[in-house]
This record gives sequence, structure tokens and C-alpha cells, in this order.
Amino acid sequence: MIKTIRDFKDLKGKKVLLRADFNVPLDAYGDILDDTRIREEIPTIKYLIDRGAKVIICSHLGRPKGYDKFLSLFPVATNLMKYFPNKVRFCDKTSVKDVKSWFPRMDEGDILVMENLRFDPREEENDPTFVNELASLADYYVNDAFGTCHRKHASTYGVAVKLPSAIGFLVEKELKIFSKAIERPIHPYVAVFGGAKIADKLAVLESAIKKADTILIGGGMAYTFLLAQGYVVGKSIVSLENIQKARDILKGAHENGVKVVLPVDHIVLKPDGKVVKTKEIESEDVGLDIGPETIKLFETEIAKAKQIIWNGPLGKYEDARFRKGTLKVAKAIAKSDAYSIVGGGDSVSAVNMCGVASKISYISTGGGASLKLMEGKMLPAIEVIDQVK
Ligand code: 3PG
Repeated sequence: MIKTIRDFKDLKGKKVLLRADFNVPLDAYGDILDDTRIREEIPTIKYLIDRGAKVIICSHLGRPKGYDKFLSLFPVATNLMKYFPNKVRFCDKTSVKDVKSWFPRMDEGDILVMENLRFDPREEENDPTFVNELASLADYYVNDAFGTCHRKHASTYGVAVKLPSAIGFLVEKELKIFSKAIERPIHPYVAVFGGAKIADKLAVLESAIKKADTILIGGGMAYTFLLAQGYVVGKSIVSLENIQKARDILKGAHENGVKVVLPVDHIVLKPDGKVVKTKEIESEDVGLDIGPETIKLFETEIAKAKQIIWNGPLGKYEDARFRKGTLKVAKAIAKSDAYSIVGGGDSVSAVNMCGVASKISYISTGGGASLKLMEGKMLPAIEVIDQVK
């Protein structure tokens, strides 16, 4: 059993370093577009402050290279104040000296949010000096940053072995849901994968062909599979070095009796800039979304499922012209009676955009992290929990 915050029996007056994943989407003005990851952290924070802990929350936001005022965690701290009025302070630095300067003003049950950890390059390098500095801030360490548990960074990995450590309620919930769905899937189990890069999904596909009954593949990654089958894909995104792997996955699925459904039609961008539907991709075309026949095929398979896991957009989702396939799939999953899990930024955003989030059984806060679990791998930041006795 992985140690959880319930195992810390003497939290009163103790400083707890809580690693959250507050990597939330922001608009051009720096306003938070979706605060799911913040809301999902409330139970853990509440548990800690109700027991008199002094909570120091750290997180990354985006992928800054050094300081970037547009990626400050200040809007996150402000958002958190809505849920914990008069409890939250913000330290606009990541240096431990500055963070510690707040300690004399912290009472039991107070929350201090640190500035974006990735403003310090030592965070992603898991630099021992940064690890030690972070560890010097607290008596206990809690990792509740599910979305970042696949990263071996100072705040997710290094510090966990320096302090008595445990997971928070969000990580506990995500692990429980994924382990059940992957180890004991309800059949028929339909896995839906999209996204531009096939390389990111190869391992999860290799695992899915052993677990799922049907796999639906869309998005840019589908074109490597189509090319592997001998189709013309024009100038659509392909990964030539992964063609053999794509063939192996199709062969493996066939041998295991797993049905793989690839797009049969596409929305393509013609060289003249016109967007058209096509069944025949020509040499200059770029496939950017699944077409209407594919949507119907996917809807039919989704309707037969008793369990669905979806990760990755089925087209170039960020461009409104190529969003339809992803939105239709979101709606189809919401309509189905199957137990459904959706993970990954664009898939979750599609579900929210369609207003069907309440019809999805579970929306994961992790994209890359949930994929790693689906590959059958444990997350490095979880494996190091509870090494200090
Ligand atoms: C995510 O949004 O997937 C996590 O916060 C991890 O972010 P990263 O991919 O920049 O490490």
C-alpha cells in the first residue's frame, strides 16, 4: 500500500510541502480557462489545514525557460483564495530564503503558494541543491500532482526521498481508477487514441492490444498507420521511423483478435487553402480531422462499449475548422452507458466544450501520467514515496 496523507497522524503545527499540479490552461490575458486541477486539490488541502498543518504549495505552470511573467502562479493563488478565504498567501519567488521569510507570519491552517517552480532550471534537472532546498522547507512532503507524476523533477521525485512522504487524495483516486480500468476492464472495452505524435502513443497502443476489444485511432498519428497499410496520405503528418512499429501493432492486434478502426475519410486542407471532405487523399493534401463516415464508425463502436478510455484529439483540435471529429466523439462517449474515462488536455477540453463533462464517468487530471499508467508502468514520482522511515 502506498502511504497516504492519512498516515501522517501529527499534522498540527507541522509544515507540509504539497506538490500540486496547477498547470492550468490560461487565456491570452493570463486568466484561468479551466480550474479543474485547482478544484481537484481542495480535499487534500482541506484535510491538511483542518488538522492544523501549515501548507506550502508548489507547482509548475507551462514550460518556461527561466522567469516568465505570463506563467506566474499568482492567478492560481488568487483562484485558490476563492476556496480558502483569508488563508492563502503568495510568495512571488521560488528561492527558499524568500519562502522561509513568510514562515513567521504563517499560522496553523495557513497556505503559502510558491512561485512557478520551473522558473528555476534546477527543478526539471532534479538538481540535488534544489532538492535539498525544497526539503528544508517542511517536515512532510505530499505529492498530489498526478499530472506530473511521470516527471522525475526536484519537486516530484528528488524531494520525496528527503522527507517523510505520502500521496494526496487526488493521486490516490487517480491510481485507483486507472488500476481498476486497466487491470480489470469491463468488456467490451473500447480505447480511443488521438493526438499528433504516434511516438507518444506507441507504448500505450502496445499495451492496449493486450487489453482492449476495440481500438479507435484518429488524429495525426493515424496517418502513420494508414501509410503502413499502403495508403496515400499526401502531406499529412507521418513518422517514417515508426512505420514498422505501426505495422507490428496492427499485426499484434489482429493476432489478439482486437479490432483496430482507422479513419476511412478525412477533412483535408487542400493546397489552395480550401477545406474539403475527401475519401481520396491526394499527394498535396494534409489530413487534419476525421471525416463523417469515420465519425459514424467511431460512434457505432463507442455505442457497443461497456468501458471506454479516451486520450488525444481526433484532429487538429486547436483549429476550430478541424475540431468536429473530436467534439462528436466526446458527445458519443457522453451518450454511451459505458464506464468512461477521459484524459489529456484536448480531450478534456472537448468534453467541457460540449457541456457533457457530467456524463463522463471519470475525467482524469493527467494526460501523460495517465498514458504511462495505461502502458502498465508505475509512475516514478509515486515509486519514491515513503522511502524515508
Ligand atoms: C501536464 O499538463 O501534462 C502536466 O502538468 C505535466 O506538464 P509537462 O508535460 O510540461 O511536464
